[in-house]
Amino acid sequence: MKIALVGCGFVADYYLKTLPEHPELTLLGVYDRNQARARTFSAYHKVPTYPSLQALLADREVEMVLNLTNPRSHYEVSRACLEAGKHVYSEKPLAMTLSEARELVEIAERRGLLIISAPCSLLGETAQTIWKAIRKQVIGSVRLVYAEMDEGMVFKMPYKKWISASGAPWPYKDEFEIGTTLEHAGYVATWLPAFFGPVQSIAGFSACLVPDKGTPLDVLAPDYASASLHFASGVVARLTCSLLAPHDHSLRIIGDKGVMYTDDTWYYTSPVYVRRWFNLRRRHLEWPRRTYPLVGKGTRYKYRGTQQMDFARGPAELAAAVREGRPARLSPRYSLHVNELVLAVQNELQGGATYKMTTTFDPLEPMPWA
Ligand SMILES: NC(=O)c1ccc[n+]([C@@H]2O[C@H](COP(=O)([O-])OP(=O)(O)OC[C@H]3O[C@@H](n4cnc5c(N)ncnc54)[C@H](O)[C@@H]3O)[C@@H](O)[C@H]2O)c1
Repeated sequence: MKIALVGCGFVADYYLKTLPEHPELTLLGVYDRNQARARTFSAYHKVPTYPSLQALLADREVEMVLNLTNPRSHYEVSRACLEAGKHVYSEKPLAMTLSEARELVEIAERRGLLIISAPCSLLGETAQTIWKAIRKQVIGSVRLVYAEMDEGMVFKMPYKKWISASGAPWPYKDEFEIGTTLEHAGYVATWLPAFFGPVQSIAGFSACLVPDKGTPLDVLAPDYASASLHFASGVVARLTCSLLAPHDHSLRIIGDKGVMYTDDTWYYTSPVYVRRWFNLRRRHLEWPRRTYPLVGKGTRYKYRGTQQMDFARGPAELAAAVREGRPARLSPRYSLHVNELVLAVQNELQGGATYKMTTTFDPLEPMPWA
């Protein structure tokens, strides 16, 4: 499928890094409203630039647009792309409000197009392995999940010096204003509803605990959120996001017969471990951990930064769904549900509250190799 990219910033380099893994995707050109950035990116990656978004959208060969702009531009750019008849793969979140996200999905449905949202780490080896083990009841019926998304004190790190491979600075002001929950919760919030079905309600607390992050900010987004997600299936997950607690991206899934866990959900090939329960003289104990074999290719991706992900796998999955005329594994309604979930955890729980979810989605398919 022929694609174009809007937003040539920090994350765009990550996409270009693994694009060659997906030869079915051909990048025709890129656009950024910051023309200097577009030129630098284009020279570094040797891809043509479009002079304007209109020119990009007028290119009839482009079937899908990767919307890698800042979150506050997602809605307007995605909407323009859909109205021009293009499929959209959007960086997260789909939109900054639920009504805008819903509108995008409805436009896409009316026009027979797909819009899905990053992250695509559900398509990674670790997520697919955990999902398979859950389906096989390796730890029995799942009751409880603990998901951590703590980044450490990023605002005490030399974040003003971080640059991407082609030289884009890490957009710290934007990152702090959008907030760590909207920026990062999705990396695990996209896994849990795939495993356990739609979330029914959310209870918890979010707040901005450190207003001074070393740079003037126009918006003080929560830098801490802890939420209990109540799934319609009966599973409960406690999700914690912060820019304070030491770096921890671990996931623990607790079932009747044992616990399954992984230490870092940002690595596509992070090992998966299982400990089964057993009773010994009425004491409840755990067997030593054993490694549960990973499914899939297990390619290791080397980046600067704290993750190893194949960012281009999501667009490749969208292209494959279009080519094969089947529902996308990360469906538009699923992306909308995850968007509602992260918006609720960040915004609706401020000061402590409960939130009833309004969106749902049909069950998703695992990857064929899982
Ligand atoms: N920075 C990261 O490590 C990272 C990692 C994963 C995902 N993301 C996500 O990727 C997206 C982009 O983040 P980033 O870090 O690359 O930001 P960035 O600020 O480095 O890059 C965004 C680019 O989009 C351009 N842009 C903004 N609005 C535009 C518009 N209306 N039309 C054309 N161009 C526009 C900006 O000029 C900028 O060059 C965000 O949704 C973010 O959540 C970022």
